[in-house]
Amino acid sequence: MPDSSKNFYVTTPIYYVNARPHIGHAYSTIVADVLARRHRMLGQDTFFLTGTDEHGQKVQRSAESARIPPQQFADQVSASFRSLWDRMSITYDDYIRTTDERHKHGVQKLWKVLAENGDIYLSSYTGQYCVSDEAFVDVPVGAPCPECGRITETITEENYFFKLSAYQDKLIELIESGKLHIQPETVRNEVLSFIRSGLKDLSISRTTFDWGIPVPGNPKHVIYVWLDALANYITAIGYGSDDPAEQAKFARYWPAEVHLVGKEITRFHCVYWPAFLMAAGLPVQRSVVANGWLLFEKSKMSKSRGNVVRTETILDAFGEHYRASLVKAGQSEPDRRDGDLFAADVLRYFLLREIPFGQDGSFSFDALITRYNADLANGYGNLVSRVLKLIEGLGEVPEPAVEQTATVHEATQQTIASVDKAFSEYRLTTAATEIAGLIATVDGMLTSVAPWKLLKSGEAADRQRAATALYTAAEALRLITALLYAIMPHTTAKVWAQLGLGSIEDAARQGELKNLAWGGLTPGTKLGALAPIFPRAEKGLAETMSDMEQSSGGAPPSTEQVQSNAAPLPAAPDGQAAPVETGANPPLAPQITIDDFAKVDLRVARVIAAERIPKADKLLRLEVDLGFEKRQILAGIAEHYAPEALIGRKVIIVANLAPRKMRGLESNGMVVAASIGPDGAPVLAGFSEDVELGARLK
Ligand code: MSP
Repeated sequence: MPDSSKNFYVTTPIYYVNARPHIGHAYSTIVADVLARRHRMLGQDTFFLTGTDEHGQKVQRSAESARIPPQQFADQVSASFRSLWDRMSITYDDYIRTTDERHKHGVQKLWKVLAENGDIYLSSYTGQYCVSDEAFVDVPVGAPCPECGRITETITEENYFFKLSAYQDKLIELIESGKLHIQPETVRNEVLSFIRSGLKDLSISRTTFDWGIPVPGNPKHVIYVWLDALANYITAIGYGSDDPAEQAKFARYWPAEVHLVGKEITRFHCVYWPAFLMAAGLPVQRSVVANGWLLFEKSKMSKSRGNVVRTETILDAFGEHYRASLVKAGQSEPDRRDGDLFAADVLRYFLLREIPFGQDGSFSFDALITRYNADLANGYGNLVSRVLKLIEGLGEVPEPAVEQTATVHEATQQTIASVDKAFSEYRLTTAATEIAGLIATVDGMLTSVAPWKLLKSGEAADRQRAATALYTAAEALRLITALLYAIMPHTTAKVWAQLGLGSIEDAARQGELKNLAWGGLTPGTKLGALAPIFPRAEKGLAETMSDMEQSSGGAPPSTEQVQSNAAPLPAAPDGQAAPVETGANPPLAPQITIDDFAKVDLRVARVIAAERIPKADKLLRLEVDLGFEKRQILAGIAEHYAPEALIGRKVIIVANLAPRKMRGLESNGMVVAASIGPDGAPVLAGFSEDVELGARLK
């Protein structure tokens, strides 16, 4: 549990730059941002670190397939992560890149300390090597690679090893004593049983590629990418630096309060990392808290499965929905940033409330809309607008009668206590659910008292009851808004201002959002200007988002393609865990028979018309001629091909694909294209010889 007297240093995993960010990445970052905002608001000296993991074979290969140098490749993808976080107003204090000089310097320093302390030795091992994957795999001699099915070779490689086996007992003691807190319990148990099953020494250098940090004194080797990556948590705050200011920063923030990680990388954070730290004579982080996976159509959202949802889609679509509602309410040119931050809040709330924190949870656009409408449009937003409109009619926040609406008062006090506790125990879904429950209680009180009716009555007692109910609801809303602040910083700022309380950021800085107690709202307070907060969303918005994903190249998610891309820990030939990295191209799809292939009817066609589709930046509407018929196809290539340049061009289409509607238009087939580079940019397939229209590809 975080100790409120200590500094609060929170980290996200650093993201691999072999893939563009998707909402699985945003999930970890959002959770970290919620915690950082909350702990700042509690007055703790908070430091929030995120960044990118840029070395290793996987990145080197991705760069090769994109035909650009790895540094340039990493620069581009790292910038795309960072600009997304900026677009969402993620309040990271530092952004570390493993290609930063400060990091490389710190990692080499760490290596030297480990070597000086006698924890590193040079040895060699022999094992089955998959040349295609450039990785040792745990299979018998002559057996195929479990990743790609190609035959493996027996190879001997010289490596540096870390004496992990020497830390087995210390790690068990660390975890059992609670000095290293691991959450959830299931992960803690898994980690403990992994350690108890016997730790082998760990290979911590590679010689088969060079995109990494050279081993001090032996540059033939590069440092194992996980040793390199894990060290970001200390190099970012000054470890290894000669600058006294950096050294002071390290003393101030280390050990970290919490490393937030995805469940598949807990072993790296709960076994290797604490062992490296102990070996270097450094304190171990206080806790590791794991989130589950966001699933899309039952499998983990990941680039290699092609089932990712991009955060940008949600920001664009929900942002546009919000701005349209402001226009309707009379605002002439709503700010784009306002839309982005509104949408970011919606996603933040959804992920916390809907996905049980620590477990896997399904993401779908429908669920996003349903939860948004239920909890934010009809729940919180509706409550704010009902209460504030009535108060606006009265001119100011009314004076309540002495005896207030006791149930709401009590429920609020209880919720404040349970939300504080839930947050401090990283039970984030519980915190969000408790707040939603309080909103429902206040709503229920209003419906039963019906102040809008009482206000029409000539009786003073009725008007007094209405005033009391409205004060109670407004005060509960003030407290609810304070509780929601870390989850939805942007929209709660609006509610706060509408309540006549000024800037919520100022209130957070001045400690007014902590130690919440009933009665802080002063009767007589004048409200701020009212405006819609959470406009109701139609189901069509889900379809719009789904279309946007399809047209941006987010291939239709397949539930059959379930090859894991989680960072695995297969044992190397001698049984120890070895780094396995897959290439940039997605793994091969499961094998099919010739009959399966024969079902796909690929034909040559000519583009006879092409045009952009209004409001769909990525889609082109094509008319193609197959020789025996003409038809309409929508293709997600607008960002890469000008419509005029396509007319007359021969393309290959999947001619027997079931029709599909996008943006209200029917697409009858699919244009075949290769997908290249980090963006998956499309390159249309074609022939160098002239081939007649309608010819079938077999
Ligand atoms: N580079 C390593 C981490 C090094 S930390 C010293 C790595 N990178 S990653 O980009 O593959 O994953 C980063 C984080 O994103 C992980 O915590 C991972 O769990 C999270 N997610 C990636 N896809 C996800 C989902 N579909 N759902 C939830 N989180 C997922 O691992």
